Amino acid sequence: MKFVGAQEWVPSRGGLPSLETALPACRGCDLWEEAEQVVPGDGPAKARMMLVGEQPGDVEDKEGRVFVGPAGRLLDKALAEAGIARDDVYVTNAVKHFRFERRGKRRIHKTPAVSHIIACGPWLTRELQIVKPSLVVVLGSVAARSLLGTTFRVTQHRGEPVELPDGTAAVATVHPSSVVRSEEYRRDFGLFVDDLRAAAALLE
Ligand code: URA
Ligand code: SF4
Repeated sequence: MKFVGAQEWVPSRGGLPSLETALPACRGCDLWEEAEQVVPGDGPAKARMMLVGEQPGDVEDKEGRVFVGPAGRLLDKALAEAGIARDDVYVTNAVKHFRFERRGKRRIHKTPAVSHIIACGPWLTRELQIVKPSLVVVLGSVAARSLLGTTFRVTQHRGEPVELPDGTAAVATVHPSSVVRSEEYRRDFGLFVDDLRAAAALLE
């Protein structure tokens, strides 16, 4: 499926509040139809570090805020361990609406397609233009597809300094939900914290 994309809904002027105001009207792909609401990014407009996740989860879709569910709790814990204050970073997602499948009463996360990632890209591009982070932390393969292209492999390059196409410094790592689900939680949590520490070190 090819979508029109978000471009015509993205304001070309104004700061983060202009994005929050404009986001609910977006019809750039089909994900708005089933989701409860759009979930904007959150954090200071002057943040030096921007974290980019995948898409809102079940809890985020209900509450309208990024990373407030299980993955968000893990992210908070890992940031604290890495010495990064969550209030200092800007946190957002590659895709702004929750994609899921209904199984009975449950809503099961479904990975956004490349067409959704491309359609939603203009919102992320505009956030990057406004915040102008010194460093972007790419959380998982969907964010990597959006920011680093479809051939980039997070597992091969996690924790390494890389660059976005516009030259912004970046570090890719796994998505926090993969750590939540891990059978080797202690190891994988430690590796995730190591990557966040490597990212923080690049800011110094
Ligand atoms: N996973 C994400 O990638 N983003 C959220 O906001 C929540 C879970
Ligand atoms: Fe628009 Fe992104 Fe939502 Fe699709 S997922 S409707 S492009 S905000």
